[in-house]
Amino acid sequence: MKDSLVRSRNKISRGIYQGILKPAFFRADPESMHDRMTETGIFLGNHKLGIKIAKGLFDYQNPSLEQNLHGIHFKNPVGLSAGFDKDGKLTGILPAIGFGFAEIGSVTGRECAGNPKPRLWRLPEERSLVVHYGLKNEGCEKVAKRLAGKHFEIPIGASIAMTNCPENLDAEKAIKDYVLAFRALEPFASYLAVNISCPNAEGGQPFSDPKFLDVLLSALDKEKRHCPVFLKLSPDISEEQTDGILACAEAHKVDGIICTNLTKRRMPISAGHRGMRGGLSGKAVEGLSNQMLSYVYRKAGKRFILIGSGGIWNAQDAYKKIRLGASLVEMITGMIFEGPQLISEINQELAELLKKDGFKNISEAVGVDNSISN
Ligand SMILES: Cc1cc2nc3c(=O)[nH]c(=O)nc-3n(C[C@H](O)[C@H](O)[C@H](O)COP(=O)(O)O)c2cc1C
Repeated sequence: MKDSLVRSRNKISRGIYQGILKPAFFRADPESMHDRMTETGIFLGNHKLGIKIAKGLFDYQNPSLEQNLHGIHFKNPVGLSAGFDKDGKLTGILPAIGFGFAEIGSVTGRECAGNPKPRLWRLPEERSLVVHYGLKNEGCEKVAKRLAGKHFEIPIGASIAMTNCPENLDAEKAIKDYVLAFRALEPFASYLAVNISCPNAEGGQPFSDPKFLDVLLSALDKEKRHCPVFLKLSPDISEEQTDGILACAEAHKVDGIICTNLTKRRMPISAGHRGMRGGLSGKAVEGLSNQMLSYVYRKAGKRFILIGSGGIWNAQDAYKKIRLGASLVEMITGMIFEGPQLISEINQELAELLKKDGFKNISEAVGVDNSISN
């Protein structure tokens, strides 16, 4: 489809989403809406016509956005972050929405009901969500069965975490849990993301401590793997702690770093009064994520592939992360606030920004506003 047609199509989609769909969606309870969106996505992804219609509405391709990283082909750098497709049910429809890749999960060793409801809130003024799901998912066995034998049109990463339960306060048991999920999903995933930074699980984030992380990564090193492994960091840790994690990751079989998960540091006081608790996404985490991304690229950009996540609302936001050092970017909240055409809008404008700045390919722009320190 010609660029001018894509632009007009996206403008119409944006108008419909902002004017009609979003006001209706935002009146509903956020978690029920999330569930309904998942059901709609499953339905569309199960029907050839559904996929065709979605492609017609959202597809955009441009060779300047393509990359090969660790032998994986990405048709564009914009992915879905972990937490939207928790159980890998949307792998049929996500490529048609225009994503270059998608990260399912986080999936844990055992099925997990998550934290009590309510556990998801919108903060329209802050352009953020408050998330307190607590790793709700169907468990690695069920998700692996769902993925088995499927052909994916885009790379599908699997985010793994430890089951959110009291037994996993024992580090040894928690590591066994990670290993279960790793083993179950490794055969089907294009990459694995080890989530050590969920802000809503019982016992906090013990593996953000390099001492415990070292034991976890040693266990994962022993597992068979055909795909790269990423580590997802919290935006709330100090530079000293980040240094410790990077040193530990360098000593193990880690190929990339995801910057970042949700933040607990930016909760507005009014949200606390309304009973909200959890981690914040969207614009509330963007600055912290970018700081972390920039720091990790400077410290270890030669060694790791970086994925930037947090607060992407438009192509400029995505481009900023790329220029700071991210080879790929991921999002959820921007899509919920701006509409599903956002992926295509970002990709189209990214291609224009690259051209304007004289880059033939997205990989040439990675890290140009930053420098690797050694
Ligand atoms: C509803 C929701 C659920 C999430 N669940 C997970 C999760 O299970 N695992 C994970 O690593 N990150 C999870 N996240 C964090 C996102 O993957 C992402 O890092 C964060 O939201 C920042 O991106 P955004 O501002 O584009 O949403 C979740 C985020 C949201 C909004």
